[in-house]
Amino acid sequence: MTDRAFKTLDDMGDVHGKRVLVREDLNVPMNDGAVSDDTRLRATLPTITELADRGAIVLILAHFGRPKGMRDATMSLALVTRPYEAVLGRPVRFVDWDGAAEAAAMMQPGDVAIIENTRFFAGEEKNDPDLVAKIAELGDFYVNDAFSAAHRAHVSTEGLAHVLPAFAGRAMEAELDALDKALGNPEHPVAAVVGGAKVSSKLDVLKHLVTKVDHLIIGGGMANTFLAARGVNVGKSLCEHDLTGTAEEIFDAAERANCTIHLPYDVVVSKEFAANPPSLRTCNVHEVAADEMILDVGPAAVEALGDVLKNCRTLVWNGPLGAFETPPFDAATVALARTAAALTRDGSLVSVAGGGDTVAALNQAGAGDDFTFVSTAGGAFLEWMEGKDLPGVAALTR
Ligand code: 3PG
Repeated sequence: MTDRAFKTLDDMGDVHGKRVLVREDLNVPMNDGAVSDDTRLRATLPTITELADRGAIVLILAHFGRPKGMRDATMSLALVTRPYEAVLGRPVRFVDWDGAAEAAAMMQPGDVAIIENTRFFAGEEKNDPDLVAKIAELGDFYVNDAFSAAHRAHVSTEGLAHVLPAFAGRAMEAELDALDKALGNPEHPVAAVVGGAKVSSKLDVLKHLVTKVDHLIIGGGMANTFLAARGVNVGKSLCEHDLTGTAEEIFDAAERANCTIHLPYDVVVSKEFAANPPSLRTCNVHEVAADEMILDVGPAAVEALGDVLKNCRTLVWNGPLGAFETPPFDAATVALARTAAALTRDGSLVSVAGGGDTVAALNQAGAGDDFTFVSTAGGAFLEWMEGKDLPGVAALTR
């Protein structure tokens, strides 16, 4: 037995010949029929390989897209089965729901199958008890390995955990351990980098983080709203002027909690949003002209932020610091990510990143591999950063 709050594959005992329903996240991006990013497929390998090697009959449950309870051939997991087989390096059969019971009865120890999109059932997203009972009949055990879907209380992510012996898969286990190190029981000082376009989409994240971290580094478009709240004229920049009052509340909450909020004091601006625009310049935040927009954090601020990280033991990162898809507005994100990666390599920083654009930004910086942990989750990572209980995780907790 492990001493964690949840059971893992180590607690399953002998699974030889047992039917194990494994919830994975196979919701991968596709382009012209090919998987364009197989990170999520690779994340499943430790669990699926271990269970198959231990002689389990492995039945993978997953969703693909948002078919809303209807069959839709463009969202069939049949499309993911061959690419998955290539990544797994052993045969994988695709099973439709009609044939699932028969397939589960016929499969041999070590066999692996993907069952059709769970969201083809209307009951999946409603966590319908009848569907829970029907799917539970297919398995002896339930393993949830899909942290990135754990913010959903669906049959395959939550309901099944109540009716079958339930365990966290290896990817889920690694994710929960990393998140615990980052915000659950971190070594202080802790820094958080939060970027992205809008304050409105991350209000709850910011409110929660100020109570948890010692340094909150705000970048991206949302920094402009905080600068505006401080009386800075942000020109044509993306800015939610109606939220400056909320930004004030976050400043106050941070002060009460002894959390330092870091905003850029120099910025990269331009009159137009385009790659390498002619009007590009770097200036002090107080010198942004009325017809300019802030598109990245400036180099002096990035250096100062690097010094903040040097004095921290833990870092949580979500969102880019600038408009990183368009050069040269990726410079601050790239530079700070590389500093964090170097500190992690030196062993002075535990760095955990996740959510939406973040993984792409870190990979662009060539820094992702050096982070302690990079989460494949989008929405689930954000809800975790908001301090919410994720139903899929809660259901696994003893
Ligand atoms: C994701 O892509 O973030 C997960 O697979 C969850 O998908 P969903 O947002 O459709 O529930």
